[in-house]
Amino acid sequence: MTAPADNPLVTGRTAGSPLVRACRGERPATPPVWFMRQAGRSLPEYRAAREGIEMLDACLTPELAAELTLQPVRRHGVDAAVFFSDIVVPVALAGVDVRIVPGRGPVLGSPVRTPDDVAALPPLDPGALAPIVAGAAGAVAQLGTTPLIGFAGAPYTLASYLVEGGPSRDQLRARALMRTDPTTWAALLDWCADVSAAFLMAQVTGGASVVQLFDSWAGSLSVADYAGRVAPHSARTLTGVRALGVPVIHFGVGSGDLLAEMHRVGADVVGVDWRLPLDEASRRLGGAVPLQGNIDPALLAAPWPVLADHVEDVLRRGLAAPAHVVNLGHGVPPDTDPAVLTRVVELVHGWRSPVI
Ligand code: CP3
Repeated sequence: MTAPADNPLVTGRTAGSPLVRACRGERPATPPVWFMRQAGRSLPEYRAAREGIEMLDACLTPELAAELTLQPVRRHGVDAAVFFSDIVVPVALAGVDVRIVPGRGPVLGSPVRTPDDVAALPPLDPGALAPIVAGAAGAVAQLGTTPLIGFAGAPYTLASYLVEGGPSRDQLRARALMRTDPTTWAALLDWCADVSAAFLMAQVTGGASVVQLFDSWAGSLSVADYAGRVAPHSARTLTGVRALGVPVIHFGVGSGDLLAEMHRVGADVVGVDWRLPLDEASRRLGGAVPLQGNIDPALLAAPWPVLADHVEDVLRRGLAAPAHVVNLGHGVPPDTDPAVLTRVVELVHGWRSPVI
């Protein structure tokens, strides 16, 4: 299989972009920078455009999804757009009753906990993804040489929402199911892998040049559970996009012990949260893997000299890896002053690595 002939990665339009080059292990003159959750409530133009429109409706309205994708690129001058959507969008498109509750996150009409619940999960009709293809294509048409990042939830993070019925602190029910009924667990994670894989493919069909798999809650797992009961399903999610040659970024929160396993499932770049310095993360990966991260989102609210020192420290430590995509260690907090994000982008773009 090959990527659609007009995908900007294939036509070469984004192939020389700093993000794509860093994903391939190169060091462009300026390191690429973008922010997880860069589209959203930190931007007044986002709040205005979303006024009175439910989150899932916004995600499924292609012109609006494209516009919300472009807003942070215009404002901050980041090196990538990330498609405006949500990890539960393909779940909703499969026909599962899920809503995104403001201030809370995804909430299921009824949780998925028994073998019957899992067997009843409907397959995702590829045609239902048409608004995703159209939304991504609408953004890509206006992005020029800036790449669009497509994304999906990894099976564990997605399954956690399905089993818990909503956001949870420690995913206790999900982890109990994993050990109590491994067959049901595997079937559930395969279903999640397949809807997320289809979601990624739709974004690549629309023109995404890179994809990121979010395993936000993987940090609640032991290495053994991750490797044995989760990683094979994450690899399944990535099979199709990898076959197309689209670079993959793989990110989890609190996943310092899982980095090698997260690389092994088929990632080109491993995302690191704010807890683990990038030089140490690189050491754990044998110095051989491009890294993404890991500005502490908390410091976006600190006085500028404190934040600037921290960003420069992240840049210096990032030199330990073969390549570095600058990002936060998790998403932009909603109350962030957007001017601070723009200033971080300017700092990163003006930074020159010391001669070593
Ligand atoms: O990064 C971007 O700018 C692209 C858009 C994006 C959203 N969600 C939009 C969104 C991405 C990449 C996501 C991924 C996502 N969604 C993850 C993985 C990333 C992470 O944060 O760990 C997870 C776990 C979710 C589930 C989810 N959806 C949560 C926890 C929330 C926040 C709830 C809240 O209101 O605080 C959502 C809702 C959501 N997804 C919003 C946005 C812009 C807020 C909706 C609103 O504006 O009302």
